[in-house]
Amino acid sequence: MRSKIVAGNWKMNKNAMETATLLKEISGKLPNVKAEVMVAPAFVNLAEAVKQLKGSRISVIAQNMHFAESGAFTGEISADMLLSIGIDTAIIGHSERRAFFHETDEILAKKVVAALAKKMRVMFCFGEELNERKSGQHFTVVKNQLKNALFSLDASAWKHIILAYEPVWAIGTGETASPEQAQEMHAFIRKTIAGAYNSAIADEVSILYGGSVKPSNAAEIFSKPDVDGGLIGGASLVADDFLAIVKAI
Ligand code: 13P
Repeated sequence: MRSKIVAGNWKMNKNAMETATLLKEISGKLPNVKAEVMVAPAFVNLAEAVKQLKGSRISVIAQNMHFAESGAFTGEISADMLLSIGIDTAIIGHSERRAFFHETDEILAKKVVAALAKKMRVMFCFGEELNERKSGQHFTVVKNQLKNALFSLDASAWKHIILAYEPVWAIGTGETASPEQAQEMHAFIRKTIAGAYNSAIADEVSILYGGSVKPSNAAEIFSKPDVDGGLIGGASLVADDFLAIVKAI
């Protein structure tokens, strides 16, 4: 049975004190759900977050990592560094990394391989832009993003992969894919994985939806059979909103 997951991607928000406060608010009222709950604070606050959440049901994950083991990559963070502070999962391929930091499919493929080589879990993000959906290319775009970054992996790697479909036009815009659009794409993703590997792998991988998930729309999106949870941006920065979304799972 694939896991249900609700993850908060805090992006470049919350300083050290604010991080501690939000984590306290979330962990203090976390509902008892059959789902993994994850938060991704900024790099500088990860180590404290891990300490603060020790013994809680919330896991701390990273928003990014570099593909090299170590070396002259000023400003970057390696898998080993994350593992050394107790973090075993990294988001890779977020559309903001692709758009603002020019991370190509080729770079992302290297990051995925590097994370898996260290036995980390990867939350791989992908999704089409507005013009691609409008011109009917969204299925092709998504298929290519998956193929270019993931389909060279061994079948055995897939138990360490979580997918997050995030249509770029729905990120931070207040516009959400309808539950039907999300379901249609998630079913397509599963079918594509079944074609590239097999249906057992496709059935086991958790596919999260991301893009303006809010307390008001979470339950309906999560009710779709191929939607296994959400990757939440803006609403994860407000404890009550994030908790309501967790409840909706
Ligand atoms: P919003 O929920 O703010 O649209 O962000 C989604 C996202 O990018 C999560 O990674």
